[in-house]
Amino acid sequence: MSHELVVAPSILSADFARLGEEIAEVAGVTPWVHVDVMDGHYVPNLTIGPVVVKQIRAATDRFLDTHVMITDPRTYGPQFLEAGSDSVTFHPEVDDDPVGLVKLLQAAGGGAGIAIRPHQALADLDHLDALLDVVDLVLVMTVEPGFGGQSFMPEVLPKLQEVADRRASRGLGFRLEVDGGIAIGTARQTAAAGADTFVAGSAVYGKPDRAAALLAILEDARSGQRVDS
Ligand code: DX5
Ligand code: ZN
Repeated sequence: MSHELVVAPSILSADFARLGEEIAEVAGVTPWVHVDVMDGHYVPNLTIGPVVVKQIRAATDRFLDTHVMITDPRTYGPQFLEAGSDSVTFHPEVDDDPVGLVKLLQAAGGGAGIAIRPHQALADLDHLDALLDVVDLVLVMTVEPGFGGQSFMPEVLPKLQEVADRRASRGLGFRLEVDGGIAIGTARQTAAAGADTFVAGSAVYGKPDRAAALLAILEDARSGQRVDS
């Protein structure tokens, strides 16, 4: 199954005082917006909650790809869907029954994804095969979660490729997303490994022309796209 390549700008690098306008600057060139939620426990940083997502929902019709770096996605995941998120991607090791949580989010009408940290080996992830069977998205983190503007970690590429291989060999349909340090160059590299969805924060919002920056990253990804992704 192949997916159209998507660059999801991360609003973590946007100006939060004018979020609606910041999203409007890229809304014409991408169907997705990436929303980073941090709780000060799972990661040391704190960002936004459902109240802000509700305001974002009112400001844009783009797909709100919500990445929750929090210890309690079972409580808050449904609240984000209720507030207007289109999908919730959580870190599965924080929940005893991540497959059940994926199904709960999907039953609530949202997409559900799992995120894998750079140092988490696939072999160490509980329930991975069962999760791959049911998720809508797998996010392979290419930096340690917590902050924007970090450097891409190329050592994650073999793991990304392994997830893409499993998807292809088992005929699964989830999106394969990368997040952290994605820019021109790393978009192409991760596309070649099998990614189809590219989160970019500072490489979009750090540029004066955000739409042009996003389209350049998309073009770079297309130049590397793996045939079966
Ligand atoms: C990091 C977040 C990312 C972050 C990416 O914890 O999950 O989405 O915004 O930022 P860049 O693209 O600047 O690495
Ligand atoms: Zn993210």
